[in-house]
Amino acid sequence: MAHENIIEAKNLTTHFYTYEGVVKALDRVSLTIKKGITFGLVGESGCGKSVTVRSMMRIIQEPGKIEGGQVRFFPDTDAMREGVELLSKSEAWMQELRGDRISMIFQEPNAALNSIMRVGDQVAESFMFHRRRSMSKKILEDLESTKTRVFPGTRSLQKNLYAISAKSPDAPVLRLAKQVPILKHWQFRMKKEAFRRATEIIGRLGIAHPKEVAESYPHNLSGGMKQRIVIAIALACKPDLLIADEATSNLDVTVQAQILDLLKELKKTEISSILMITHDLGVVAETCDRVGVMYAGTLCEEADTQPLFKTPLHPYTQALLASVPKFHQEGELKTIDGTVPNLVHPPLGCRFHPRCPYVMEICKTQVPLLQEARPNHRVACHLYDAIS
Ligand SMILES: Nc1ncnc2c1ncn2[C@@H]1O[C@H](COP(=O)(O)OP(=O)(O)O)[C@@H](O)[C@H]1O
Ligand SMILES: [Mg+2]
Repeated sequence: MAHENIIEAKNLTTHFYTYEGVVKALDRVSLTIKKGITFGLVGESGCGKSVTVRSMMRIIQEPGKIEGGQVRFFPDTDAMREGVELLSKSEAWMQELRGDRISMIFQEPNAALNSIMRVGDQVAESFMFHRRRSMSKKILEDLESTKTRVFPGTRSLQKNLYAISAKSPDAPVLRLAKQVPILKHWQFRMKKEAFRRATEIIGRLGIAHPKEVAESYPHNLSGGMKQRIVIAIALACKPDLLIADEATSNLDVTVQAQILDLLKELKKTEISSILMITHDLGVVAETCDRVGVMYAGTLCEEADTQPLFKTPLHPYTQALLASVPKFHQEGELKTIDGTVPNLVHPPLGCRFHPRCPYVMEICKTQVPLLQEARPNHRVACHLYDAIS
C-alpha cells in the first residue's frame, strides 16, 4: 500500500560556518507532508524557510552544513514505495531525483532561466536529462513503422542506437556514436521529441500560442510568462512533490493571482503534493490545506489552515496573525515587540521567549517540543505542556 505521506523531515539541523560564528539556522525541524495536499511554510523573512527546503533537497551550499536529521521521501514509484532516506544518498542519485520526482521553483525566474536559450529547449532539457529511456522507446516504435521517413540506409542503424538508449541511455557506445561523422546527429529525433513534449506542457499551462512561446527567448517574455516557463520546467517530468519557494513574491499582484490560480488548477491534474513557502499569510489562506509556522529556525506550530487561522495556539502565530491588516480594520496594526534573534547566539530554551507576552521560567531554559495540543494541531510551546 502506498504511504500516506509524501515526505517526512525529522530533526533537521543546519548550520552556517561564518566569520561571525556558527549561524544555527535550523534547530531540529520536523515536518510531515501528506500526499495530495498543499502545505504552506510561513514565517518572517530569515526564519529558515528556504534553508529548510534546501536542506530537504540537499542543495545547501558552503558554508552551510546539514548537521543532523532525516528526510524520508515516499514517491509513487514501485522502486521507492517503501520510502528513501535522502540525506544518505549520493549526490549523483539526488541529481536524478531533482527535477524528476521532486521539483523546485524559486522567486526569481530570471535566475532560473538561461537567457541565450529558447525557452522550449530549456523545458526540453528536463526530458533530455530524465526521460531519454522512455523517449527512445517511443522513437523505436516510430522507426518500426515505414511511415517514419529516414535517411536511406540508416533505419536499422538508428533502430540499434535507440534500442540501446531505451535500455541504458548512458551507455558509453552512445557517446562514442557522436564522434562518428555519419552518426553525429543520431539524437536529433530524441531532441525533436523532447521539444514536442515541451511545447505540449507549455500549452497545458494555459498559454495561448505554445509553439511561438516555446520558440522565444526569455527576454521576449513578461515576468509572469517567464515564471510559467519555470513552472513548466518543474512540472515536465510530473514530480510527486513540487516545492515553490516564494514563487510569486516578485510578481505584481494580478500576475501573482494568476500564477496562484494556475498552481491550484495544476494541483488538480498534474501535481500531487505542493510545498509552498511564503511570508504572505494571504497566499497561505488562499491556497494551502495545512500550514507550518517557523520562527528563528524552529517549527513552532503546525495545523490545518482553518484551525490555524481561527485558533492559533503559539504566541508567535497569534502575534503574526494580529499583524496582518484585515479588511475594514480599525485601530492600529499590532507589531511584534522585540527583534528576530541573532542565530549565532539564539536565545536558550524557546527561541521566542524574549518576545513572548506569556513567558514563564521554563521557557528560558527548556526547548519546547512540538506536541499535539489539539487533534491534528501541533505546537511547540510550554503553555500547552499540561494539555498534551
Ligand atoms: N549562506 C548563508 N550564510 C550564512 N547564513 C545563512 C546563509 N543562508 C542562510 N543563512 C541564515 O539562515 C537563516 C535562515 O535563512 P532563510 O532560510 O533564507 O530564511 P527565509 O525564511 O527568509 O527563507 C537566516 O537567519 C540566515 O542568516
Ligand atoms: Mg527564503
